[in-house]
Amino acid sequence: MTAHPDGMTYADYLQLDTLLSAQAPLSTLHDEMLFIVIHQTKELWLKQMLHEVGLAMTLVGADRFAEAYKALARVSRIQSVMTLSWDVLATLTPVDYGRFRDVLGTSSGFQSAQFRELEYRLGIKDPRFLDYHEGGTAGHARLKRAMDEPSLWDMADAARQRAGADSWLSVYRDADRWFELYQLAEKLIDVDDALAGWRHKHVLTVERIIGGKTGTGGSAGVKYLESTLTKRAFPELWSLRTQL
Ligand code: HEM
Repeated sequence: MTAHPDGMTYADYLQLDTLLSAQAPLSTLHDEMLFIVIHQTKELWLKQMLHEVGLAMTLVGADRFAEAYKALARVSRIQSVMTLSWDVLATLTPVDYGRFRDVLGTSSGFQSAQFRELEYRLGIKDPRFLDYHEGGTAGHARLKRAMDEPSLWDMADAARQRAGADSWLSVYRDADRWFELYQLAEKLIDVDDALAGWRHKHVLTVERIIGGKTGTGGSAGVKYLESTLTKRAFPELWSLRTQL
């Protein structure tokens, strides 16, 4: 247990002075605030998801499945909230966004180290994204670590092997016998499904706001984002369904 300083207030505990002084629009335009708040909220939720995925990996590594389900269920609920938040951003019209897009310069979601770390931690490990973070920076270091360490998928697959199941297909074919692994696999599918849902809503919102323009990060924009829609963290769990 940590100490409870006397007289600590809500604002002290949450460090609201720091948190609420971190919104610094570069223009005088009304709508830039929403843009900043949505992105900062997303970074906070990513932080929480990484926290839960880390716990889930430790628990799966110790064959403590029921506790891992709980952490993964929380991840899925956070994903639902993130997907819903595109509706708030969609109130930003192309006209509103066009007025301050210049101030963003080359900054882009491409450079979100936490988003990429989440992909890496789940098992989607494309090394090209390391290049978006300069060597020696904290972002590069955390991505390199996530690249080198076992992913959630690696941990789940090791648990399957320890339990003695031949393959994930055999887990699904005899779901009663392998109930805990089967349940784990379905929690993983929930996370992958929600991540794909988030990507779909991102590309739709982006199309609604910038149409076919290129992205601030230099990609082809909507075309690039569409190419990410087929990414899966647990492809084996998706493909086995064809054989059931
Ligand atoms: C006006 C709003 C937005 C537009 C026009 C937009 C556009 C784009 C575009 C074009 C890309 C591709 C990279 C590039 O060329 O920049 C991208 C990537 C990305 N954006 Fe957005 N975005 C918007 C809002 C958001 C928000 C609110 C979030 C998070 C909640 C977000 C998260 C990301 C992430 C994580 C990527 C990397 C995706 C990947 O590589 O798989 N974006 N965005």
